[in-house]
Amino acid sequence: MTVLNGQPIVIIDDDKSICRTLKLHFERRGFDVTTAHRAEDGLKALDPVDSAIVILDVRLPDANGVEFLKEIRSKDKNYYSIMITAFPDMESTVKAAQNGVGEYIHKPIDINEIDSAVDKAREFFVTNNGETQSLIEVPKLNSQKDLFIGKSHRMKDLFKQVGMVSLSKSTVLINGESGTGKELVARAIHDNSPNASSPFISVNCSAIVDTLLESELFGHVKGAFTGAIKHKEGWFSLARDGTIFLDEIGEMSINLQAKLLRVLQEREFAMVGGKSKLKADCRVISATNRNLEQMVRTGAFREDLYYRFKVIKIDIPPLYDRKEDIPDLALYFVAKKSQEANRNIKYITNDSINFLMTQNWKGNVRQLENVITHAVIMSHGDCLTKDHFSSVVDQETTSYSTQEEEPREQPSLEPTRSRDANSYRPVSLNEVEKEQIFKTLTYTKWHKGKTCEILGITRPRLNRKISRYSIKPTHFTDN
Ligand SMILES: Nc1ncnc2c1ncn2[C@@H]1O[C@H](COP(=O)(O)OP(=O)(O)OP(=O)(O)O)[C@@H](O)[C@H]1O
Ligand SMILES: [Mg+2]
Repeated sequence: MTVLNGQPIVIIDDDKSICRTLKLHFERRGFDVTTAHRAEDGLKALDPVDSAIVILDVRLPDANGVEFLKEIRSKDKNYYSIMITAFPDMESTVKAAQNGVGEYIHKPIDINEIDSAVDKAREFFVTNNGETQSLIEVPKLNSQKDLFIGKSHRMKDLFKQVGMVSLSKSTVLINGESGTGKELVARAIHDNSPNASSPFISVNCSAIVDTLLESELFGHVKGAFTGAIKHKEGWFSLARDGTIFLDEIGEMSINLQAKLLRVLQEREFAMVGGKSKLKADCRVISATNRNLEQMVRTGAFREDLYYRFKVIKIDIPPLYDRKEDIPDLALYFVAKKSQEANRNIKYITNDSINFLMTQNWKGNVRQLENVITHAVIMSHGDCLTKDHFSSVVDQETTSYSTQEEEPREQPSLEPTRSRDANSYRPVSLNEVEKEQIFKTLTYTKWHKGKTCEILGITRPRLNRKISRYSIKPTHFTDN
């Protein structure tokens, strides 16, 4: 435990014995402690100090602790508050978090718990005042537009490829691990092409069941199948002379692969149920994180279609192979996420960046982006420190690696129940459903298309259930 000289702590609690005990304890640790029993006196005690740690009770005789926080926050001084609550409830927790509470302590107070909260607060001031850390300033974002960051050789080469490819209309296949930026590359090609003002249509081939995908891609005529009550244009028509981006083509059925091959060969297609040929004018960009060559060898992907797709092939290297891009990406995401979350984060410590550079990033840029979003949202003050990242990365890394190592068994479709009849715990059907959906999503790594297939439900239905049961991935994805 560190002993400190003179760091101010202001304790505000109407319980005099708590004030006395904490005062003694923290004075022994070298803090400069003031106590107050009412909000009004607390304000007076805080007036002359800056960079104070405020320990306060949520219920004060003359004010509500949360309102009190709002008031001291408006003073434009540096405070770190630790809230003591006897009755933790969600509403006051949410309000307190919005008003900048750093830590929570529940009554009865455990001295170790409050010590570690105070240590954290101390660290906050140390880093925030730049005493021991070298800080890197977060750059200002000049536009709302998404940027494509990268200065490693591999990314510079990739940017060149994008530049060259964008001028032609040839078909492009983008290959890269999940989260490396495949969609970003596809958009960059489109945005830099002469037809940038024409539509860019992104199609996730794994998200829609096969028959539906066909009619979405090519459209259908009235009466083509039950439910086809009117003529509907498909994406190949709607894209006009723009771009159609076929994501996750490795998931496409053999049947649809054959139809797509015809479109790429003849540049023509027919609507489902239609006879006349329509022109396919758009550029086709496809992407996959799977090894298509291997899929061709095993017969899961048509060889002729593979060659049609990969007229030009762009490989995006995993983030692990271009770690020198991490500092720029991190600063960019901090600026972006802080703007989106209405935060004003000005600095990030140097050791945070060093820490981020030592990670594996199995989920690539998307994982880095998620970790930073999390850190920004959970932070207090205007500086991000290593602590803000390490806890999240630990969780994330574990969840990514477990997924890799987990045997790829189909989850049991049996409802959850104990084999031992005596320990049988009755559960509601909703609970069983929730668990089954969660298990299947985990099994498919949150691949919603596959999840729908396994569960035999549609994607909108799956989405409704995910939000109804508040099912969350162990890491954040948005596919
Ligand atoms: N070089 C980069 N600069 C800035 N942002 C990036 C970069 N690469 C990826 N991103 C961001 O990371 C996220 C993931 O990128 P994207 O969706 O393009 O990946 P993906 O390869 O299509 O992933 P998946 O295989 O999971 O679909 C997006 O929010 C994207 O904007
Ligand atoms: Mg993608």
